[in-house]
Amino acid sequence: MVRLAPMEETEYRPYIERLIRTYAADHVRAGRWTPAEGEGEARKEVERLLPQGLATPNQFLFSILAGEPESVVGRAWLAVEPRGGFVYDLEVDPPHRRRGYAEAAMRALEPIARARGADRLGLHVFGDNVGARGLYRKLGYSETHVIMSKPLPE
Ligand SMILES: CC(C)(COP(=O)(O)OP(=O)(O)OC[C@H]1O[C@@H](n2cnc3c(N)ncnc32)[C@H](O)[C@@H]1OP(=O)(O)O)[C@@H](O)C(=O)NCCC(=O)NCCS
Repeated sequence: MVRLAPMEETEYRPYIERLIRTYAADHVRAGRWTPAEGEGEARKEVERLLPQGLATPNQFLFSILAGEPESVVGRAWLAVEPRGGFVYDLEVDPPHRRRGYAEAAMRALEPIARARGADRLGLHVFGDNVGARGLYRKLGYSETHVIMSKPLPE
């Protein structure tokens, strides 16, 4: 249903810039960073994880291809680390959502991670990301720890 193809350099740069912006916004919303520091911190973190871009060892960035004729419908980023495989990012472009592409892409990542020595797959998802949490539950992921917060009254 989907095919994972190694991400091409032309897609990588705009993808990473978008990722940094959404990663910063998500973490500002979650209270980890202030709006002023968000983008800088997100950039540092992404550059630490991908120091050599697409050529970084143990980091695998894919374009998700689907349809007839085949086109790019999303992207997935898998790392194989000593703790196991970790899915750093998964996105399906809005016009292609709810067609099972993310589910198929996540399943396609499993043998790739396995073949590189991972015995499990982990990921992080924000508590308010209802769609993604539903997807991961459907795929058999369970919560290993939960961070909670509430705004305090003035
Ligand atoms: C989350 C995301 C990747 C899902 O992609 P998708 O291709 O639409 O997902 P699928 O069609 O494979 O959905 C599979 C299952 O996941 C669950 N699901 C997916 N999107 C959902 C939504 N918006 N609301 C509720 N459940 C949802 C459902 O159980 C769905 O099965 P169903 O369609 O039979 O009900 C996509 O919405 C996305 O890119 N969101 C923005 C980026 C993001 O949040 N990524 C995850 C970061 S952790």
